[in-house]
This record gives sequence, structure tokens and C-alpha cells, in this order.
Amino acid sequence: MRENVISIIDLRKFYLVGDFVVKALDGVNLTIKRGDFTAIMGPSGSGKSTLMNMIGCLDSPTSGLVSIDGEIINAMDETELADVRNRKVGFIFQQFNLLPKLNALENVITPLLYSANGMSGKERKERAEYLLERVGLKDRMRHRPSELSGGQKQRVAIARALVNNPAILLADEPTGALDSKTGDQIMSLFMDLNEEGRTIVFVTHDRSLGYKCRSQVYIRDGKIVDKDVEREY
Ligand SMILES: Nc1ncnc2c1ncn2[C@@H]1O[C@H](COP(=O)(O)OP(=O)(O)O)[C@@H](O)[C@H]1O
Ligand SMILES: [Mg+2]
Repeated sequence: MRENVISIIDLRKFYLVGDFVVKALDGVNLTIKRGDFTAIMGPSGSGKSTLMNMIGCLDSPTSGLVSIDGEIINAMDETELADVRNRKVGFIFQQFNLLPKLNALENVITPLLYSANGMSGKERKERAEYLLERVGLKDRMRHRPSELSGGQKQRVAIARALVNNPAILLADEPTGALDSKTGDQIMSLFMDLNEEGRTIVFVTHDRSLGYKCRSQVYIRDGKIVDKDVEREY
């Protein structure tokens, strides 16, 4: 049996907006096992990004339990959350979120500077080069984001997300800013990474992309309304 990497029990996240309570997540139960490739699907405003932020330790829940790779994050303070985030989670965003003044190599190295990995400068550079090669950017390492296409920027972001060897890759609409052909290429890269054993949570409102993942979870008004049984490719 594969172990659970993510366990979520009765998770709620409420926001107070004026004197109005927004129930962004309202009783979510979800388990994700090591090696899963799960699509989180649902309309805009349904709570997908809020769920990502909980799994990614960017924010803490109103109530419920969230366990990430064996660490229960509910009672953690900001410093502890940041530590779990750095060690366990690699993020990929729609807008890439690269640092514009750094080249591709420097962008990928950056997370290594914030984690206690004991690596030398040479080792950090070698690790980043290895990952940039892995995502097909061997000859673009010294380019800044402004000199790269959208697809290339997302490849840099994927290499950066992998650099600390996280237990989970969290991708929130990673192809949302790309044309469909480039989006398909990025999707293929995620599929290859999953084949290699990476656990991936993939947020999308695009059904055709969601169905390429191994399993699908549907969310609406902060609640999971349906789940598809895991299948092989
Ligand atoms: N920081 C916040 N403050 C108030 N409301 C929020 C905040 N973040 C999200 N929401 C609300 O929570 C709901 C879910 O948002 P979100 O998780 O971003 O949805 P999705 O990613 O599926 O589009 C929406 O109604 C949104 O307006
Ligand atoms: Mg969103």
C-alpha cells in the first residue's frame, strides 16, 4: 500500500469580509497518496486556490486537520509553516512567479539558499543545471525570464519547484497563461514527472487537462462534490 502524503479531515477556511463570512472551504476531506497525480477541478471561486494554499502551508485553516508528509500543520506558527513549506512542497503558478533580475539558473538555485541542505555553491549549481536539463532548457540557463517564452518560463518554474526534492508538487492552473500547444507540452512534462514517481496536485478548470491526470476531484462552493476512481494511463 502506498502511504498518504496528504491527509485532510473536515477542513474549513472562512474569511471575514466586512460583516460577511465567505466559506472558501466548508468541510473538505481528501487523502492523496505518494505517486498520485490528482486534478482538483471546479469553477472559478469554488475554493481550488484556497485548498492549494492549505496544502502548500501558505495559510492556516479555520478548523480541521491537515497533515503533509507526516507533519500536522494546524498548530504551527509562521516559522514552522515556512519550514514545512520549503522542505515538502514545490509550487508552480499560472504566472510563473520567477524573479525577473535573475537568470534561469539563479532562479532555480534560489530555494536552495533558503533550505538547510548543507550543499556547497558548486553542488547547488550542479543540482540546478541537472534540473534545467531535465526540463529541456540546457541551452537557456543564462537567460533571464524576459528572454524566455511562456513555456520556457514555466519549465524554469518547474525546475525550481523540484530543486529541494519536495514530497509534493502543487501546480495551480500551470497552463492557464499558455497557448494550448505549449500547455500540452507542459502537461506532458508533468505526466513524465509523475511516471518517475512524483506526487502531483494539479489545479485546473480545464476539463480536458483534468482528465489527463490519474484521478479527479471536483470542488464546488468549498465542498468536494465528486471524485473519480484512480485509473492507469
Ligand atoms: N483572502 C480572501 N479574503 C476573502 N475572500 C477570499 C479570500 N481568498 C479567497 N476568497 C474567496 O473564497 C472563495 C474561493 O476562492 P478561491 O479559492 O480563490 O477559488 P478558485 O481558486 O477556485 O477560483 C471565493 O469566493 C473567493 O472570493
Ligand atoms: Mg484559483
